[in-house]
Amino acid sequence: GARCLGVLVGGVAAWQLAASQKRERFLQSFGTQAATALESALQERANARRQVASVAEEYREASRRVLHEVNNPLSIIKNYLSVLDSKLERQEPVTGEMSVLNEEIDRVGQLIGTLADIKPVETGPRAFDAVKVAEDVVRLFRAGQFVPGSVQITTALHDDARLVEGDADTLKQILVNLIKNAVEALAGSGGGRIEIANRGHVHRERRLFLELSVSDTGPGLAPEVMANLFTPVKSTKDGAHRGIGLSIVHGLVKKLNGHIACRSGRTGTVFEILLPAWSGASAAPALPARALGSV
Ligand SMILES: Nc1ncnc2c1ncn2[C@@H]1O[C@H](COP(=O)(O)OP(=O)(O)OP(=O)(O)O)[C@@H](O)[C@H]1O
Ligand SMILES: [Mg+2]
Repeated sequence: GARCLGVLVGGVAAWQLAASQKRERFLQSFGTQAATALESALQERANARRQVASVAEEYREASRRVLHEVNNPLSIIKNYLSVLDSKLERQEPVTGEMSVLNEEIDRVGQLIGTLADIKPVETGPRAFDAVKVAEDVVRLFRAGQFVPGSVQITTALHDDARLVEGDADTLKQILVNLIKNAVEALAGSGGGRIEIANRGHVHRERRLFLELSVSDTGPGLAPEVMANLFTPVKSTKDGAHRGIGLSIVHGLVKKLNGHIACRSGRTGTVFEILLPAWSGASAAPALPARALGSV
């Protein structure tokens, strides 16, 4: 099973030839050791190359996810600029639009920051109002020309259970992706209805969760997408779609220590999200003023 790695060539003077022939075994073991050293050096180089390639691929993957997510606030900003434009023309107040623009621009900055591993300062356990996030996201979609007239977005968010552990922006990203997919599915099939609901508290594995759902009356997920749910797929849509929205959603739900499931058929699709309910135990939650009812 010996393999030839290369040929060592040396020269000796004619008068040394007899002595060298006597040292044939030494020369052979010198050759074997040189080959071993060469082989391990080559292997190390190949390992290093593989590692560099896998880090580069991880980075490319992360960049694709950031690009995908940055495009969401960017299109919200673009949409709000045109809302702003028409409101200013009518000389109507634009404070609401300005604050959305501010928030979304901050979100772009934060999303890009994740690529450079700039993490937000850890503030311990936090809570946020999931219903407020859902209402905000729906408002973003309803403004301007975002959603075609044939697509109706409704909410069923009337519930007292609303506080969830974690970071509000993460839920915003999840909902924007799911609603965007639903809008795209309905727009491509003649329209229909999307509903964002708060289904209240549920127990799972001895923990209390808040269940949210995003459902639509669209054509349902293709079997090949369903079979590889929450992993990057070949998008069924034209244009710049990369088929990574649902895999990002899955990662974000995991980041919130939640669960996500999908049921889909010919008459529609529902995504059910379980998020850890805020137990209020360890630290004072950084609640938005509205959740405390003080504003
Ligand atoms: N609500 C839905 N109704 C029908 N099909 C859906 C729905 N949500 C997702 N899909 C299907 O799942 C596929 C994957 O969705 P995903 O969000 O991961 O990628 P995408 O929307 O195609 O592209 P991207 O999100 O990268 O722009 C879509 O191409 C579409 O076929
Ligand atoms: Mg998508």
